[in-house]
Amino acid sequence: MTDENVARDRAAMPPGTHRVLDRRRLGRDHRRLAERLVPGLAVLDVGCGSGAITRGIAEAVAPGGRVVGVDVNEALITAAQREHGTVPGLVFELHDVYQLPFRDAFDVVTAARVLQWLARPADAIAAMARAACPGGARLPGRVPALACRGRHGQRDG
Ligand SMILES: C[S@@+](CC[C@H](N)C(=O)[O-])C[C@H]1O[C@@H](n2cnc3c(N)ncnc32)[C@H](O)[C@@H]1O
Repeated sequence: MTDENVARDRAAMPPGTHRVLDRRRLGRDHRRLAERLVPGLAVLDVGCGSGAITRGIAEAVAPGGRVVGVDVNEALITAAQREHGTVPGLVFELHDVYQLPFRDAFDVVTAARVLQWLARPADAIAAMARAACPGGARLPGRVPALACRGRHGQRDG
């Protein structure tokens, strides 16, 4: 098995993990991001797991916000769609962080507890930066988010 596959298998999370992820909350488990969210922002949550934090993001940017949660694990995306798929402005899609199909599309691109599991975190950050609108900057801290000047004129970094 290559290093990349080891990292990917570890990151893919064992069966049943979604019960742990379901207990996560934006305000408690992604506090640095929560402090920066305002209504109307477009946010991409990479490695969203079963979507508990992503739901909190959607609630924080409502009304008028738009949130996409992506994960490489199909079972987790299915669970996220089942549990949170009816929240306004929130969708979940199956994508690998290395192959995100987004360009200049989000005010904030974030990943909580994902990059440390990856074999190529720099490539993942580059893909996340491409998904963020121009002028993006990485927020410092253990739980990184990429942010950029959006419709609200915010800029962090
Ligand atoms: C520790 S969980 C964190 C989930 C959620 N962000 C949270 O904080 O509760 C890591 C997540 O990253 C996802 N992941 C791992 N490799 C990935 C990749 N290459 N692309 C997208 N997601 C990935 C896993 O499937 C898993 O859901």
